[in-house]
Amino acid sequence: MQASPTADAPGEPPATVSVRLSPHAALDTGAGGEILVRLAHQTVSLGPFEAGVAPAARALATGLPVDTLGAGADGRDREVLRLVRSLARRGLVEYGLPGAGGGDAVVVEPQVPDYWPRLPDLADGDTLVLSRFAYMRRRASETVLESPRSGALFRLADPAAAALLATLCVPRPVAALRRRDGFPDLAFLALLLDGGILLRLGRAGDEGLRATEGDEGLVLWDFHDLLFHARSTEGRHANPLGGRYPYVGVIDPLPAIRPGWPGPAIDLDVPASSPGAILPPVTALLRERRSTRDYDDGAPLTRAELARFLDGAARIQATWSSPLGDGEDGPTATYTARPYPSAGGSYELELYLAVRRCDGLAPGYYHYDAERHALTRLDARPQDVGALLGAAAYAMGVPGAPQVLITIAARFGRVSWKYSAVAYELILKNVGALTQTLYLVATEMGLGGCAIGSANIELFARMTGLPHHVEGAVGQFALGRGLDLEEDAP
Ligand SMILES: Cc1cc2nc3c(=O)[nH]c(=O)nc-3n(C[C@H](O)[C@H](O)[C@H](O)COP(=O)(O)O)c2cc1C
Repeated sequence: MQASPTADAPGEPPATVSVRLSPHAALDTGAGGEILVRLAHQTVSLGPFEAGVAPAARALATGLPVDTLGAGADGRDREVLRLVRSLARRGLVEYGLPGAGGGDAVVVEPQVPDYWPRLPDLADGDTLVLSRFAYMRRRASETVLESPRSGALFRLADPAAAALLATLCVPRPVAALRRRDGFPDLAFLALLLDGGILLRLGRAGDEGLRATEGDEGLVLWDFHDLLFHARSTEGRHANPLGGRYPYVGVIDPLPAIRPGWPGPAIDLDVPASSPGAILPPVTALLRERRSTRDYDDGAPLTRAELARFLDGAARIQATWSSPLGDGEDGPTATYTARPYPSAGGSYELELYLAVRRCDGLAPGYYHYDAERHALTRLDARPQDVGALLGAAAYAMGVPGAPQVLITIAARFGRVSWKYSAVAYELILKNVGALTQTLYLVATEMGLGGCAIGSANIELFARMTGLPHHVEGAVGQFALGRGLDLEEDAP
């Protein structure tokens, strides 16, 4: 776990990263060697561990060196490593890098469950530069360094670290960054390289690599769009998310209806809106539409209904291509027509279906081919499909999962190739237009649907094998035959 000293490294060995329990957690032991984590509002069991683990568990309050974890030959060492890994997967550890004075120079807060600090070897001749996605900001009274590419957040306790980073907007060789009187040392640079905050350009200061950051899929992303994507979805950050009411008691809630502007109001008449009048079909459909969260598993949705639903809401109606602009040498773009509107005719949204109960269709995970009007089964793990469906039930506040859960995913490059600065927000607007279309077709067919505001981009990436910035989850819609309930609570 230490950055390897190079031939001309200074005498001081690089600092060692230590792992410790998050400040908001405490460890306890239960019956039969069970280890419990006590958090503010719940206690989590990590399962049974060998008794010899107890002293290490206590030492985790202050910190254990990461490089010696599990290094011993005996089973106790492996159990300690298992304990730390188990805590890490649940986001219950942080990592400290000491500074010259002995205290923390940097504290690493994992943002993804599988983050594990690694210190790649650095040579004096290596050239480093900041990723264009890295940024520093104030969080309460701390300076934090983050990136939507990084699996960790770095709390900078030593201002020297921030000062050093400010010099890395231009590529600099490691030899020029090294300070011989303590922090920042190689381990700091290696941690940031591993965390995607820094890029290694090699001796030549590779310009191409500087543009792509080693990933062609990043070229089309604006900084703020990738940050928005990674921080407004689940899976790639450890911040609280969703309807938590963080301002209760601080700020009064805004009223449901905007207070009117002063001045005279002109009342608007609606012909044929008297009670009993027959409403135009679209008006009637819009009035009938409601979110449905409870589904009738005694009479699940059928494959024929699913086919009609997808045909009505999302099927491609026409395809064509046309040259870009009026120039003859420019690229030719391809287009489609679909039942809902889409900014710039991009139609970047794809539908993935987690099927739990559908008559005539095996449970599993499918992609909807909107041109052929067909479903293609993906090789997703059943436990991931279950986790996706379970999270949807949780988001709807109901015990049962939907019969079908539709993930709306975006092929981001289809929009960002054309639009600067507004690409991601256009995609979210397109999700809104598609969502209303899904609602209306479901209502017209007598089916139940419910939009779901959250989407887990890591889970989607695992289920499809696609990087979260190439094609990623941006919306969800639950579907099924609704249970006839008196009132469906919001
Ligand atoms: C973008 C969006 C996100 C939503 N997210 C959720 C959600 O996560 N869970 C849920 O139960 N309902 C969700 N809903 C449904 C709303 O709660 C619902 O539309 C609202 O309460 C109005 O009720 P109605 O749809 O029955 O008319 C969402 C709706 C939209 C448009």
